Amino acid sequence: MKTSKHSIHIRLDRRRLLRSLLLTTGGIVTSDIYAEALTLTPRCTEGPYYPDHLPLDQDNDLIQIKGDTHPSGGTVAELGGRLLNADGKPLKNHVIELWQADVNGCYIHSRGEQRGKKRDEHFQGYGTFTTNEKGEYRFRTIKPGLYTGRTIHWHVAVKQGDKRLLTTQLCIAGVPQNDQDMVLNGIRDEAQRLSIIREFKPKSQGSKELIGTWDIVLGATPDERGMGRPPGPPPAMRDRRAPTEQEIKDALFGPSPF
Ligand SMILES: [Fe+2]
Repeated sequence: MKTSKHSIHIRLDRRRLLRSLLLTTGGIVTSDIYAEALTLTPRCTEGPYYPDHLPLDQDNDLIQIKGDTHPSGGTVAELGGRLLNADGKPLKNHVIELWQADVNGCYIHSRGEQRGKKRDEHFQGYGTFTTNEKGEYRFRTIKPGLYTGRTIHWHVAVKQGDKRLLTTQLCIAGVPQNDQDMVLNGIRDEAQRLSIIREFKPKSQGSKELIGTWDIVLGATPDERGMGRPPGPPPAMRDRRAPTEQEIKDALFGPSPF
């Protein structure tokens, strides 16, 4: 009788603990619950202007097209950072793709010219960079032009071989249109939303060129799952699915022997 009461008492305590964990974490609990969590870079729409014809020059300097002596218009902006997995490990040999509007708000897509605007033919519009051993990437480009209905933004995708692992966007802190932007404000998780808004400062005192850093954090991919990472935490966060009580129990206390 005593034993039975004792076991009921423990079960209730566990349930209470699980419930309070769910409340305090907003329904997100990971098996790395005691480790410092990195904010996964959220997915954003690809939008309608991923180039339908890729340029011949696809390097990471979008200001200078090979064979063109004239640089593009716009405010020069350098963007760089690291590509990391959810555990903070650098991901090398991944291709970062970047595409964006030119100074006039136009894309290199065949329907990418905004009404009444002309495309800057000296702007590359799209570039790639393969991450190095430290997961680092870098682009020399311009502050994207503004076009109707959006805030200023870069489009970014991460690929490994032919597989696209992430499609996202990056915005600039302090741009007034950020407050009304549908894509940005569609990201309900505040930490994730803030993770794609970065400050860009003058490269040096008095410089007109801007520089900003941005680390991209990838959640688990099918390949990572295959390498033994338990399914659940990163995909659950990415898919915004709250784990079931059983999954949380398994994460905290190990799988039930029954
Ligand atoms: Fe766009």
